Amino acid sequence: MNKRTRLIFLGLSLLLLIGVGRFVTNDFDFLLNDFWFTSGFLLLILLSLIDQPHFSKDSSIFINAVTAGISLLLISEENRNWVFWLFLGITLYLALSSYLLMWVRNNPLTQENKWIQFFSRVNREIGKPQTLFSAFFLWGALNQFGLGSDGFNALLLYWVIFMILNIPAIAVIFNNLFEPKELEKQENALGSILGVQSKNTFLVKLFSERKQKIKLFDFVEFVYSIDDTRQIRKGIILDTYLLNEQQWIKVLTTAEINKIFENKPILKGHTDDIIYKISDVPENEYLETFVGIITENSSIQKIKFVYNSKASVNDGQLLEVRVKDTSVYYQIVEGITRIEQLENRNETGLIVGEAIQLGTWNHEKVRFEQFGWVPEINSPVYISSKIQDVEIAGTEFQIGHIPNTNFPVIINKELALTHHTAVLGVTGTGKSIFARNLIREYLKDETIKVICIDFTGEYKGKFDDLDPIDVINNTVADMAFKEIDEIELAVSKNYGKDNEATIAKRKEVSKTMHAEITSFMQNPAAKISIFELPDVNNTSGILEYTRLFFKLLFHIAKNDKSFGNKVCLVLEEAHTVIPEWNFVGIADKSSQSLLNSIAQIALQGRKYNVGLMVIAQRTANVSKTVLTQCNTIISFQEFDKTSSEFLSNYFGQGIANVLPNLKFRQAIAAGKALKSNVPMIFEVPEIIEPEIEEENK
Ligand SMILES: Nc1ncnc2c1ncn2[C@@H]1O[C@H](COP(=O)(O)OP(=O)(O)OP(=O)(O)O)[C@@H](O)[C@H]1O
Ligand SMILES: [Mg+2]
Repeated sequence: MNKRTRLIFLGLSLLLLIGVGRFVTNDFDFLLNDFWFTSGFLLLILLSLIDQPHFSKDSSIFINAVTAGISLLLISEENRNWVFWLFLGITLYLALSSYLLMWVRNNPLTQENKWIQFFSRVNREIGKPQTLFSAFFLWGALNQFGLGSDGFNALLLYWVIFMILNIPAIAVIFNNLFEPKELEKQENALGSILGVQSKNTFLVKLFSERKQKIKLFDFVEFVYSIDDTRQIRKGIILDTYLLNEQQWIKVLTTAEINKIFENKPILKGHTDDIIYKISDVPENEYLETFVGIITENSSIQKIKFVYNSKASVNDGQLLEVRVKDTSVYYQIVEGITRIEQLENRNETGLIVGEAIQLGTWNHEKVRFEQFGWVPEINSPVYISSKIQDVEIAGTEFQIGHIPNTNFPVIINKELALTHHTAVLGVTGTGKSIFARNLIREYLKDETIKVICIDFTGEYKGKFDDLDPIDVINNTVADMAFKEIDEIELAVSKNYGKDNEATIAKRKEVSKTMHAEITSFMQNPAAKISIFELPDVNNTSGILEYTRLFFKLLFHIAKNDKSFGNKVCLVLEEAHTVIPEWNFVGIADKSSQSLLNSIAQIALQGRKYNVGLMVIAQRTANVSKTVLTQCNTIISFQEFDKTSSEFLSNYFGQGIANVLPNLKFRQAIAAGKALKSNVPMIFEVPEIIEPEIEEENK
């Protein structure tokens, strides 16, 4: 019963009591003079107004006893028979003993010694208003009117009705007449708030006699008394646990949960700080997207959250957290289990997820932008929602999307080309197919020419639909190669020095190759070339030939601006072309000078619109001089230590840790050419290459 109903109840009972009194005595003198009336009145007040519903505390018994004692004084001297003295004795005993008990007791009753328990229980029974004042009332009425009289019978009837109405179950039904919602509310009451954690998370002690069963993620409703606005909050049960042998729950409230119920209250007349279960929950997807709440030690760049969810997540999953009314996105990079110590040797296991910040999403600019603050503790973490489709400019290309979302990962083709791009990953992860797809994108620009240096033969046939043209005609190449061989031989006979004849020959070879490259550059039909090597065994000759080729290419880029073209040099299996120095024999002069010619392109190429696309399995055996010049890196799965060190310098430790766990077609992208300037895990779409003849491996 709430206060209002109780007051109505009191008023009606009092009116009825006065009515009955007037009926049997014919005047109103009894209001001041009659003991039966005083005790009946006190019975009403104590039962109805001062609620002692379940049991009376020692202090209430003390008050009951003192008021009873005083009302006894109304009995006139001639009526003070042995019953009077018995009543007075009982009230005195109750007043004294309950006062004493108030001092002696300091534990819950069950933990007190048996004598205190005994007296407390006896006092509760005798001292409760129903017992004490009923006895007074009936005795007073009997004294006044005598057994069998109409007056006594009327008051007895009144008393019976009043007591019946006071039986809790009947009171509830009666009450329900006034407040239909009341019954539902009482049935749904779960417990009361005893603590708050950072505004939106409440600790609730459950009532032991609650009628509702609860489970994780049930929805609840309540009004929090400290809340000035007295808004009705809605939340979900995040956690249940035992503390001091009592059951507790943790309730999270969010604006999003309120929205599920269209911000409307379900129950009426909430008692403050009592949590009510909501049984009828509209269809919603809240629990499918709720992941957990932010926990301690989160930072601007990396959040930590306690995973507590029906939804399953993986590394790479995009998360959304509201920080100061802004949606900030994070990408999961780690999940760690943890054990948390509760009181009394209880423990609970947690999973703490870690996610790095991608930032806020700028839809117009189609990119993530860094956000400069950290979410509050206990902020809810959600699986990100979809975004509207985006428009991608012609100079850009979508290399993929963030796993399980439609957030695009976009690359600026021109920057990717001129500022060099590296594609890394262990064998079979899809580097080559990804690179070829990117090359096809490059080639959509008429002014771009692609030259693939592929000593492994992997690209053979893969671009047949684009009619690849040899930069250097086969017969010219054969001839040039023979000449170079002869020069090398002559030089080695001359103690490693050039003589006039070799110098002249070099010039001649250079000239022929120069002419070939120039004609390739000037031929609009020549888009792509697979740089193949003549079928010979002389590696030093091969390297010298390749070096000369790069030197001339760069020369043309520098002096003739490649005749208005941009050039992309693809170094497939890069360690075969640009090995790391300690993987090259020191004496291997030709290998070193080939490397130097490419390093020059790496260092200065962008000034002359010559870019590299370096494809490698491991970073360890590829020249760092070249690799560090790659301003954009796409890395598929990597296991080895050198790669992980190199890439964590580039991507940052947090995200680089994911490298060994990347799934098929997943990669980490970062660098200058990417629209969003934070490293992120993304998924490459299924690439279908046109007219693939057969695997050439
Ligand atoms: N995005 C993709 N779409 C379709 N198929 C793919 C994709 N990525 C990889 N594959 C499949 O995986 C196979 C291996 O890919 P790819 O040859 O590109 O690997 P790689 O990283 O170049 O390996 P290696 O280092 O051994 O050359 C391909 O033949 C292809 O079938
Ligand atoms: Mg490959």
